[in-house]
Amino acid sequence: MLVNGIHYRTVRMDDGTVKMINQPLLPHKFEIYNCPDHVSTAGAISTMIVRGAGAIGTAGGFGMAQAVLEAFNLKKDSEAYIRKAREMLVSTRPTAQNLFYAVNKVYNAVLRAPDLQTACRIAVDEAGRIADEDVLSCRTIAEIGAELIGEKSRIMTHCNAGWLAFTDWGTALSPVFYAKREGRDPFVWVDETRPRLQGARLTAWELKGEGVRYTVIADNASGYFMKLGEVDLIIVGSDRIASNGDVANKIGTYEKAVLARENGIPFYVAAPTSTIDWSCSKGDDIPIEERQEDEVLFVRGKDLDGRIKAVRIVPEGTTARNPAFDVTPARFISGIITEKGLVKPDTLAVLQPAV
Ligand code: MRU
Repeated sequence: MLVNGIHYRTVRMDDGTVKMINQPLLPHKFEIYNCPDHVSTAGAISTMIVRGAGAIGTAGGFGMAQAVLEAFNLKKDSEAYIRKAREMLVSTRPTAQNLFYAVNKVYNAVLRAPDLQTACRIAVDEAGRIADEDVLSCRTIAEIGAELIGEKSRIMTHCNAGWLAFTDWGTALSPVFYAKREGRDPFVWVDETRPRLQGARLTAWELKGEGVRYTVIADNASGYFMKLGEVDLIIVGSDRIASNGDVANKIGTYEKAVLARENGIPFYVAAPTSTIDWSCSKGDDIPIEERQEDEVLFVRGKDLDGRIKAVRIVPEGTTARNPAFDVTPARFISGIITEKGLVKPDTLAVLQPAV
């Protein structure tokens, strides 16, 4: 992603330090957050300094590599140290499959190492490969998905599945960026995405940076614009896809998909195959994260004097529920855009790697 003319990846590792774009500060401030060890990397994932399925996968892989480097420096009980680090990293967030994919890939690669010094090299290389693979998959999704976008298509999206949700490029938004760079003039309806406002804060910031036309709408306005005939297609990302094609994504995705069906609008999901959990047979088995109620009870933003503030929006003593994701049944999904091609949810099995 280009920010003020400089190319950034959302997450990278430099000399043992994991560096990430500090997402809660956006769009008001652009800052890089440094995690010197795996504990701080795990903390950054659970507090959502880094968020989005692919980005937390990359961060988790790098966190695992940091733990191996730390174990080497500790010199004792390295196996237990690395195992505990793995447990900590996978317990940061429960829904996004890419986190488990990346952490386990680095962990399993290290298990095969003959000694700790070799393990360090293997871990750093494997984590770097996972990050590069994520970029390449998203770049391919951009090209495949762009074929669905016409000269002036009006696309609706929910949450943020752009540059910031992956190592680079993104999934739901990358076809839009690609089409724009090819000279087309797409328009994006951006759902604000309560309670953390990833649409209003992050998707809008990315589209503005790319010069793509967009308008932010309240989450509950999306059906209104669908019914008016002002939405040509919907593209969203995913945090985990079950093997039957059911898709977990940001809370509110399910209702967009049902409304899309009602209004005859194609509804696409864009995700790398690393998001598919082949061991999970149906969406009801995907664990759904429930976050703190304060995210619903308060809204954060910049006041008229330019200060970032959290303000309470409900009466004192009010309680809230805050599920972060929901599951859209496969029957509402027109197609899943992956780096291996566009498939119907009921033919997902063609993507399953041979064992
Ligand atoms: O809670 P988040 O912000 O980590 O949720 C992830 C998301 O942004 C979305 O659900 C997204 O559409 C899929 S992740 C690429």
